[in-house]
Amino acid sequence: MPRAHLETDRLILQRFTRKDASTLDDAIRASLGDLNQWLPWARMDYTSSDTTAFIRESVQAWKENRAWDYSIRLKTDPGRHVGNISLWTVSKLGKISEIGYWIRSDETGRGVCTEAVDRVLEEGFAALGYHKAVLRIAVGNDNSDRVADKLGFTREGVLREELLIRGNWVDHSLWSLLDREYRALRQSGAKRR
Ligand SMILES: CC(C)(COP(=O)(O)OP(=O)(O)OC[C@H]1O[C@@H](n2cnc3c(N)ncnc32)[C@H](O)[C@@H]1OP(=O)(O)O)[C@@H](O)C(=O)NCCC(=O)NCCS
Repeated sequence: MPRAHLETDRLILQRFTRKDASTLDDAIRASLGDLNQWLPWARMDYTSSDTTAFIRESVQAWKENRAWDYSIRLKTDPGRHVGNISLWTVSKLGKISEIGYWIRSDETGRGVCTEAVDRVLEEGFAALGYHKAVLRIAVGNDNSDRVADKLGFTREGVLREELLIRGNWVDHSLWSLLDREYRALRQSGAKRR
């Protein structure tokens, strides 16, 4: 199981508790216009009871060792939720993990997502022993593609009509990074391009 509290230079990643409901809800509300385009759960009629249900499910998933969601916070303002990042296993046999994320709209474009994914990759490879990490990114989501590219992921190909988003089946790119690639990039210091 990954640690419940991770840090980077600028960020704290922490497991959700019930106390996070109002700041999480605020972040979602302030970002719904952007989230709605790419994330199936981010319906324009999203309500605070959806947030409560998400936190309940997230707490349960940690308990059952199924999936690990973190609330991303800036060290300079730790009471405010600035985004989500999640890690889960897609293949035990292949030691493959998947990572998903979103950042609140007024904090995008500052490298927060890249920094958070980098930290979760380290936890996944070094502490949990995964062999491979994958991201599934909707075709056309250039900002998210950029995160994958900056961290040294390789685009393996396109998964056809992978997710139903707002009534349309959307193709997704599958991006991956191997343990040895992560270590080599980290050693050469060339990880973030
Ligand atoms: C995709 C997303 C997570 C990126 O988060 P982020 O913290 O902005 O990511 P980063 O700053 O690390 O990098 C994003 C890249 O997108 C671009 N970008 C994103 N938002 C930007 C903004 N508001 N202003 C300028 N550039 C922006 C930049 O090109 C940046 O690359 P750069 O460092 O080379 O300039 C965020 O835009 C988001 O939550 N989008 C909606 C939900 C979503 O798409 N989730 C991912 C599903 S796979």
